[in-house]
Amino acid sequence: MSDQMKTSKRGKFYGVGVGPGGHGLITTRAAKVLKDCQIIFCPRAGRSASSLAADCIADLHLPAERFRTVDFSMDEDRQQAWETYKVLARTVHEALEEGKDVAYLTIGDALTYSTYGYLLSALADLDPTLDVETIPGVTSFASLAALTQYPLGQGKERLLILPCPDSKEELRQEIETHDLVILMKIGHRLPMVLSVIKELSIGEHCVLGSKVGLPEQFLTSLSNESCESCQLREQEKGYLSTMLIRKSAPSSKWLQAPIPTRKKEEVL
Ligand SMILES: C[S@@+](CC[C@H](N)C(=O)[O-])C[C@H]1O[C@@H](n2cnc3c(N)ncnc32)[C@H](O)[C@@H]1O
Repeated sequence: MSDQMKTSKRGKFYGVGVGPGGHGLITTRAAKVLKDCQIIFCPRAGRSASSLAADCIADLHLPAERFRTVDFSMDEDRQQAWETYKVLARTVHEALEEGKDVAYLTIGDALTYSTYGYLLSALADLDPTLDVETIPGVTSFASLAALTQYPLGQGKERLLILPCPDSKEELRQEIETHDLVILMKIGHRLPMVLSVIKELSIGEHCVLGSKVGLPEQFLTSLSNESCESCQLREQEKGYLSTMLIRKSAPSSKWLQAPIPTRKKEEVL
């Protein structure tokens, strides 16, 4: 078979951003592509019973036999993750060669702090001529901002997207040198982050969203009281959590909506 014939029969690969959490937060392009793909790979983290990414598209009611779960260890280091993606890339490549269209789901936006980047690069190593399309998604911080009606920068305000640093000093410096900080990957550092917010007395301009859009969703503003609360002191609230931080009150009036609480059935 000539290379040209081989290429024309190949399937197309799609990286698709979905969610985060809840349903409905996907583009119409993503919904169309997912309905047409014969194989949909979905990552499942650690000991989770199901894939969060697959749960995010449950309302598309796609046939179960199209889904393939890819398991990842939460403790995977970069080298291990890379190895996992190299194996996955070979499986994806085989399916594309068979002429199937293949999707890979990512939570939130496909290229924002997403391991999907590893898969793209492993696929490019196998064959740089593959037909690939990445469909962007709604980031976790955009979803949190929408739920709390929190403007992410007005006029020329400087906005920093920051994976949480380990040191208090570094975090404090980043907050002091930007108008807003989107703090991601907080994890076990939550108590440290809360003490910095308290020391700077800026809690009333900040919100925390944990497991946004999921049945366990937890949203709160960070007044001094809530920074001290036992509930927030639980370290696990830092996992799958994002914080929106302002070092001072916004110049225009901010419609501070009451932080919504959701019942499980409203999310599903
Ligand atoms: C590997 S990054 C994935 C980011 C994702 N691609 C996005 O567009 O938001 C993981 C980080 O995203 C944030 N995150 C992802 N899902 C979230 C959710 N449902 N609620 C709050 N934060 C979330 C957390 O900061 C977490 O540490």
